[in-house]
Amino acid sequence: IMTGEPVNVNEFRELARQALPKMYYDFYTGGAEDQCTLKENEEAFRRIIIQPRILRNVRCIDLSTTVLGYNISMPVMIAPTSLQKLANPEGEIATARAASACNTIMVLSTSSTYSLEEVAACCDAIRFFQLYVYKRRDISAKLVQRAENNGYKAIVLTVDSPRLGRREADVKNKLVVPLLKNLEGLLPTKFVSDEKGSGLAALASGTLDASFCWEDITWLKSITNLPILIKGVLTREDAIKALEVGVDGMIVSNHGGRQLDYSPATISVLEEVVDAVGGKVPVLVDGGIRRGTDIFKALALGAQAVLVGRAVVYGLAAKGEKGVNRVLEMLKEELELTMALSGCCSVKEISRSHVRTKHDQQL
Ligand code: FNR
Repeated sequence: IMTGEPVNVNEFRELARQALPKMYYDFYTGGAEDQCTLKENEEAFRRIIIQPRILRNVRCIDLSTTVLGYNISMPVMIAPTSLQKLANPEGEIATARAASACNTIMVLSTSSTYSLEEVAACCDAIRFFQLYVYKRRDISAKLVQRAENNGYKAIVLTVDSPRLGRREADVKNKLVVPLLKNLEGLLPTKFVSDEKGSGLAALASGTLDASFCWEDITWLKSITNLPILIKGVLTREDAIKALEVGVDGMIVSNHGGRQLDYSPATISVLEEVVDAVGGKVPVLVDGGIRRGTDIFKALALGAQAVLVGRAVVYGLAAKGEKGVNRVLEMLKEELELTMALSGCCSVKEISRSHVRTKHDQQL
């Protein structure tokens, strides 16, 4: 039993569980099939050991960094998560305001419950737009145009979802999908439900374009001037391909364990991708980040920044905008303490030698 204010992300998760109907909590927290990847995303962090340096002057710690040239207060961004109104009526608006207050970047999902225009108008947060590609290619093109017109600074193309992963909790609960505001009038999205299972799965199978492939990145580049990040890279081979087609950055992600079960924990393949990329474009990572130490480990293994999905949603569900704010502040405070105790005054000082993984000789 938890009493008093939550002191970490896991306690926010518990508050979210208490606050939400089971159908929605299960949707946010769950993963695909056996949820092996979901669990591994967190477990793999636990196997990485931090190697601190002593007797550095760590009186002042600078957490700031840049992503695609944008200055942010810490190397933590908000991952795109769909259907935020199910967590709190203010949904993506609350999240954007918290991003703005914390001076970080929010990635808005295509499948949001406020429109990209509404989110743009609500505050001055730096925003990227996450894109799904639909069979109706013109719809995706329109979304990109609208994002560009409304001041979104980059397109985050999600590439791990030619089809939706099988999330069995949503099947059992017969998840009902609320109105996807960005797609209003474009796709039949109103309250999609399916008496045989997940409304989201039904919607996705009717609309997602499973034929989208490497050559089509050229198409995407032809319709926008915005930088393009691809989200869902997990191998060296694909990192090299991504460089070849000319992406502006990549996100090592397995969609929070919601797509292909038994795909690797993201932190376990981050270094492979970072090595393949060789500093040519920024590499970001998401999946399983619940602590400042997790962020520290990701930076040590070469990530420019991390993104957090569920942690933010738990904050939103528990306490709305204030909750998202608190979660971001907690992660910031935890990272700052980790850096101080490890002898790092700035994110640049966090190096590969600050962590030990199973690949390292010492073990
Ligand atoms: C997601 N994720 C996601 N990704 C994406 O590209 N578009 C989307 O609409 C969504 N929606 C979504 C909903 C929910 C409820 C979750 C939990 C996740 C994946 C997300 O961007 C990110 O990759 C993971 O959430 C990262 O893992 P953690 O931080 O949740 O462990």
